[in-house]
Amino acid sequence: MNFRLPRQDKFLFELPKVSKMAQRPYIVGNWKMHGTRAMLAEARAIDRAAERLIKVEVALAPPYTLIHATRKEAGLIGVGAQDCHPADGGAHTGDISAAMLKDAGAGFAIVGHSERRADHGEKDADVREKADAAISAGMNVIVCVGETEEQRDAGKAESVVAKQLKGSLPEGEGVAEKVTVAYEPVWAIGTGRTPTVEDISAMHVSIRNVLQKLYGEEAGAGVRILYGGSVKPDNAAELLSADEVGGALVGGASLTAESFLGIIIAAAGGEEG
Ligand code: 13P
Repeated sequence: MNFRLPRQDKFLFELPKVSKMAQRPYIVGNWKMHGTRAMLAEARAIDRAAERLIKVEVALAPPYTLIHATRKEAGLIGVGAQDCHPADGGAHTGDISAAMLKDAGAGFAIVGHSERRADHGEKDADVREKADAAISAGMNVIVCVGETEEQRDAGKAESVVAKQLKGSLPEGEGVAEKVTVAYEPVWAIGTGRTPTVEDISAMHVSIRNVLQKLYGEEAGAGVRILYGGSVKPDNAAELLSADEVGGALVGGASLTAESFLGIIIAAAGGEEG
């Protein structure tokens, strides 16, 4: 093919950078402790629909026991884990390393979910170790942060989240492109309550500032920030419209293809294709 670039050198310098605005919305389903093999039918249906919804990047984080089967049954969507152990291996009965998860088919790991912070006493430093382990194993990470209701009422939401980010995010050369942040206010998870669009925007802008301080302006601008907490098909479009929201981390509404697809279609702008 005979393709000639325009002659002006200037043209090359004026090419727009691929900005975060060009990224597809990222919609991730966190199945938590739900799902036996019977639920693979939902994963298959989500995967088939994702083939048509190419404007959206879709992923599922099923329980460990379904990672391998989900990867096999659903070939298009991303598949990830809900946690990982920080060590490479060893005498840790019942735990699973990042390398094992990668081997089972996981492309990413969620780390620092508030349910793990609450149920297992995970601190920011633990979350960072897990994120480091997942990245070393060749996976991406979704690092979760979010304030409690008490902290929000005390006017400390943004400072609490900034502290969590500074303590939990992995650092190092080239790491930012492996990281997604999920802002999940603890009081919005599974409650049917959500922050206002203004509150989500303010928090996401504040998270963006922390990311740019930590990773540099450009790398920090490329990190996707998901909102999570009671995202449903009927509120998804509104929540996703908030500033700096690059997608959603969805719990309950990701458990059936029908409701999860409602969210994915909302993220695609309300239309398939
Ligand atoms: P819900 O969507 O059920 O509120 O859960 C959100 C969540 O914790 C996703 O990680």
